[in-house]
Amino acid sequence: MADGWRWDETLFEGTAAHYERGRLPYAPGYAGTLAAALGLDGRSRLLDVGCGPGIVTLATAPFVGEAIGLDPDPGMLAEARRRAERRGVRNVRWVAGRAEDLPGDLGVFQAVVFAQSFHWTDRDRVAATVLRMLPPGGAFVHIGEVQGPPPPVYGEIGELVRRYLGPVRRAGRGVLVNGTPGREDLVLARAGFGAAERVVVPAGETVTRTADDLVAWTFSRSDAAPHLFGDRLAAFEHDLRALLGEGAFPERLPATEIRIWRPMPHTYAHVHTEEADDAQ
Ligand SMILES: C[S@@+](CC[C@H](N)C(=O)[O-])C[C@H]1O[C@@H](n2cnc3c(N)ncnc32)[C@H](O)[C@@H]1O
Repeated sequence: MADGWRWDETLFEGTAAHYERGRLPYAPGYAGTLAAALGLDGRSRLLDVGCGPGIVTLATAPFVGEAIGLDPDPGMLAEARRRAERRGVRNVRWVAGRAEDLPGDLGVFQAVVFAQSFHWTDRDRVAATVLRMLPPGGAFVHIGEVQGPPPPVYGEIGELVRRYLGPVRRAGRGVLVNGTPGREDLVLARAGFGAAERVVVPAGETVTRTADDLVAWTFSRSDAAPHLFGDRLAAFEHDLRALLGEGAFPERLPATEIRIWRPMPHTYAHVHTEEADDAQ
């Protein structure tokens, strides 16, 4: 969990409607690359934790028998359900909850995936739980973006957000004085996972974003979620649109970074022996 910050259910409130349009897509083919790296097949089960509107859940569903998306935000899950129905994807299930609620009764998964979501969780506790949810050969997967320097317009949007919401990054009802935590490698080592396998899927393409795309990007973020502006939301959007004008904003798509951790063999044996002892 980020230093001095407490999770609450307003973290992504109201962002779901803006998510798909606002966020840049993961690199083409990343789901197939992940499936090949993990050896997934039609019998595999995959859990996408912090699934948001189901972008990774739906992309990976064709490579597995069942994909489950877990998220605490009802708006995100509603959007995920709509997207699955629109695409006619049947082998997905959506579950409301936090990573900290795992394992629940969800069972065992060949892959437990966190795409831009692990930093919002109680990471040590969640990594230890995930370890117990993996069968031999199962994997903890972290998906993120490899970003180059952002185009200057993002700095200008950030300036405007700070003028409205204050100098310290907002997150739910709290603030993130030191931003969100990194160094997942240390967390996973502490939990008993081995060294990471890292795969970078290149995107390489430039897209041109419109003002509407960048408004959606702003409102898709936890630090500028619509509810944070209260009764100044319309004024903020007005100023944001004035800043963006009729501009067209070229941007290079980020590469997608996939990191895969598997339990160290001795940890795995230890955890499952303890469970067998508990059952006696
Ligand atoms: C930046 S979005 C990523 C969405 C999606 N994984 C993707 O990559 O498109 C982060 C998501 O994590 C979810 N989240 C936040 N805290 C969480 C927690 N403690 N447990 C599970 N999910 C959480 C949010 O509701 C949000 O949908």
